[in-house]
Amino acid sequence: MNDEQSLTFAGGEVPVTLAGAADAPRDLTYFGFVPAHDQVQPSQAQTVKEIPRVLAGRYRIERLLGVGGMNLVYKARDLLHEQYGDPDPSVAIKILGEEIAECADASALLFSEFAFTRHLQHPNIARVYSFNMEPECQRGFITQELMSGLTLDKLLCERPDGLPWSELRDIALELLDALAYAHAHGVLHGDIKPSNVMLDNYRVKLFDFGLGQSFGGVLPGLARLSRERFNAWTPSYAAPELFDGFGLSTGSDMFAVACVLFELACGKHPYLRVSSDLARDLNLGRTLRRPRKLPRRCWPALKRALRLNPNCRTSNALHLYDAFNAVPVRGVSASFG
Ligand SMILES: Nc1ncnc2c1ncn2[C@@H]1O[C@H](COP(=O)(O)OP(=O)(O)OP(=O)(O)O)[C@@H](O)[C@H]1O
Ligand SMILES: [Mg+2]
Repeated sequence: MNDEQSLTFAGGEVPVTLAGAADAPRDLTYFGFVPAHDQVQPSQAQTVKEIPRVLAGRYRIERLLGVGGMNLVYKARDLLHEQYGDPDPSVAIKILGEEIAECADASALLFSEFAFTRHLQHPNIARVYSFNMEPECQRGFITQELMSGLTLDKLLCERPDGLPWSELRDIALELLDALAYAHAHGVLHGDIKPSNVMLDNYRVKLFDFGLGQSFGGVLPGLARLSRERFNAWTPSYAAPELFDGFGLSTGSDMFAVACVLFELACGKHPYLRVSSDLARDLNLGRTLRRPRKLPRRCWPALKRALRLNPNCRTSNALHLYDAFNAVPVRGVSASFG
């Protein structure tokens, strides 16, 4: 994606140029609302006002940290905690962007993100603290742990040829452990990509469950967003079956995480950064080769997770974890072949 995105409302397509685009990540999530009977038209929606300096009378905004496909993320100080002597009152605030805030579904989507993330307590998943509504500007926002460090897309800009095995292995194991935990607790991430993973003080943090979904009876009371009404994906990490209208699955998360790991291993996207439905049409699966820095023993499991046909994508997060874990950092030379 470039810096311009499209929001497709029932009435047509609205191109949106993001503020701070120069600093915006390459792979923004594409959002499109498709027509439904009870679709809220932008004209009927509440008019959204500017974001005040202090949100909900408590969180003083300090600076912009990032701009995503749908939200703005700020560093803020929790004035209440500060008043009671909290030595570290800083939080990150994720608040709906102006255009999206006008849509009734947007707050429900943000609340779902909050609920999914709160459900998951894992050292490699960013923590959320609260969901709030800012009364003045009428926008939902989440407070969450403030991370500092690089997202993997920025890391890849600094390391265009990928990472050595010792670093790749550490990141892969933490990321796969987080994903296996989320899947075991009935939550699908739905939007795994380099800009949704942070290296925070050398620890991997998976975040942005905004397109997540629960399964297996987990969080049943949560408003569920129908993908028929609300399509969203990041084209080069979304599994091809999502373009065909199938729902999220552990397999679609596996496809995305495998693309990220491949990219970390050699600096290149496995399917030349084209959307996976096009990769399938062009039969790019045939051209996949093991990245040189990836030990031979890891390749079969990673290759299985990268399959464009979901029926052949038999690897799960634990299989892939085991494959990466089986090759130690020392004495690795024998396994590169
Ligand atoms: N807790 C946090 N601490 C520090 N920075 C953060 C935090 N959360 C998000 N960011 C920064 O803001 C960016 C956008 O955040 P996030 O991915 O949650 O928004 P988004 O609107 O869901 O994005 P998209 O849907 O395009 O992936 C991140 O890539 C990251 O740089
Ligand atoms: Mg994101």
